[in-house]
Amino acid sequence: MKKDTIILGIETSCDETAAAVVKNGTEIISNVVASQIESHKRFGGVVPEIASRHHVEQMTVVLEDAINEADVAWDEIDAIAVTEGPGLVGALLVGVNAAKALAFAKQKPLIGVHHIAGHIYANRLEKEFAFPLLALIVSGGHTELILMKEHGHYELIGQTRDDAAGEAYDKVARMLKLPYPGGPQIDRLAAKGSANIHFPRAWLEDDSFDFSFSGLKSAVINKMHNAAQRGETLEPADIAASFQESVIEVLTAKTYRAAAMYEVKQVIVAGGVAANRGLRDKLKQQFINTAIPLHFPALNLCTDNAAMIAAAGTILYEQGRRDGLDLNASAKLTLK
Ligand code: KG4
Ligand code: ZN
Repeated sequence: MKKDTIILGIETSCDETAAAVVKNGTEIISNVVASQIESHKRFGGVVPEIASRHHVEQMTVVLEDAINEADVAWDEIDAIAVTEGPGLVGALLVGVNAAKALAFAKQKPLIGVHHIAGHIYANRLEKEFAFPLLALIVSGGHTELILMKEHGHYELIGQTRDDAAGEAYDKVARMLKLPYPGGPQIDRLAAKGSANIHFPRAWLEDDSFDFSFSGLKSAVINKMHNAAQRGETLEPADIAASFQESVIEVLTAKTYRAAAMYEVKQVIVAGGVAANRGLRDKLKQQFINTAIPLHFPALNLCTDNAAMIAAAGTILYEQGRRDGLDLNASAKLTLK
């Protein structure tokens, strides 16, 4: 019988310090996340220097918790997988250095993981992949459609030309004076409003799977300024609902068209914005009458965590990937 593969994952690319232990890339044994959201809230966004300091303070505690909760001995752990990029370089470095120190001290293989591969593999902790697979990635830094024909293989078929979906959510939330992170706030507010304001949809060229959200963001600003100049007030819940409808209509339509065109066997959604209730509902409606299964991770697996990094690292481990102790953090890393 094949031995289980047990991977320790580490993630520090943005504002969550996380460590997790995952079995065979599919089963979470422990998953510890220390969020810094409260520390960044008063600045309205993530402050890189503060993020790095918190990672330094939290890293060993989170690692100890993840190992203790998993109740595994070090000799059962096959390798250490860590997010090497993309993300905030000072934040990434804390995780990469912790992983390197552990790999050296415990004599374990070290594997660098792309953050987005992690988001994709969060889905595999709940549902086995069926290829070809289409992944819609919607996070604070990324909006992409990725085709996967096999494990660890990523073909970019569309991406944002300007802002990421999460970034647009956060910016519009700031205009509405909602606290950081804005995505979940807009999501909640949108449920109380009606989408009665028309905002543009950036369809781009007919055959394009690319996205664009900066025009929408400007349209929201203009609408609010114009209303203020006329002494009118727009209902914030209606702005949130109308903005959200514009975002999810384009995301859903392009995902659906790509899924049909590439004849995929599964569609998965990944990244923080995958937690959006409006997006989840709309995609479900779109795919319910098709033969294509659709999967979203549980809410705690949509946002940054280390179980997803361990899950993606498991595939790399099985494919024989090993990094040296010269592994470095990379703020801009492409997914290959
Ligand atoms: O994947 P993630 O945790 O970090 C990055 O890798 O970027 O995504 C964070 C993003 C933020 O922009 C946040 O506002 C957004 O995901 N987000 C949401 C929701 N929950 C988180 N956006 C819309 N609706 C949500 N429910
Ligand atoms: Zn992320």
